[in-house]
Amino acid sequence: MPIRAWFPTYIYSEPLQKKGLARLNDDLATECQQLRAYDAAGQAWSAKNYPGGYTSYGSMSQLQKFSSSFADLETKLTRHVKTFAKSLDMDLRGKTIQMTDCWVNIMPEQTAHSLHLHPLSFISGTYYVRTPDGCPGLKFEDPRLSSFMAAPPKLPTARDENRLYTTYPATAGNVVLFESWLRHEVAANRVSEERISVSFNYNWS
Ligand code: NI
Repeated sequence: MPIRAWFPTYIYSEPLQKKGLARLNDDLATECQQLRAYDAAGQAWSAKNYPGGYTSYGSMSQLQKFSSSFADLETKLTRHVKTFAKSLDMDLRGKTIQMTDCWVNIMPEQTAHSLHLHPLSFISGTYYVRTPDGCPGLKFEDPRLSSFMAAPPKLPTARDENRLYTTYPATAGNVVLFESWLRHEVAANRVSEERISVSFNYNWS
């Protein structure tokens, strides 16, 4: 072939574990809802920054240090992050990967999360706890989009790898990982049930 692909962007998606996801997610959902009820600072932060929804990002963003169930989730997620980092051929220079942040997001109907990236970390991701039918997925943008200048748009029939956006469906029990510089967003939730996820960042030090 005269044409080869270079500089790919990888996204990882796998179930957190093989068994026991329903029970684990029931327990996590209860804890997320309890956290929302108790976290007045987070409610105030969310009212300004996450209209209609609740996130602990502005108030309790290191849940792995305060809750045994989130510490347990950290242990499980770290295995996936190690696999992902290895597949990216990263040389961690003998250092270890560490979860730096871990927070809850609860999206009722109409709540959205606009385009952003995750500074000060190298791998980020989301674990899905509650994903009612029809709830929005995680939409990623081609990281080269701002450099395209005079590039024409893509055909409606473009191959997946040539599209400018891709959306991973939100599936309870799944872990989605990406490099932290990759911009992403979540469209408004259009269903009446709440969508619950846990987002996190990793660094190496
Ligand atoms: Ni994000």
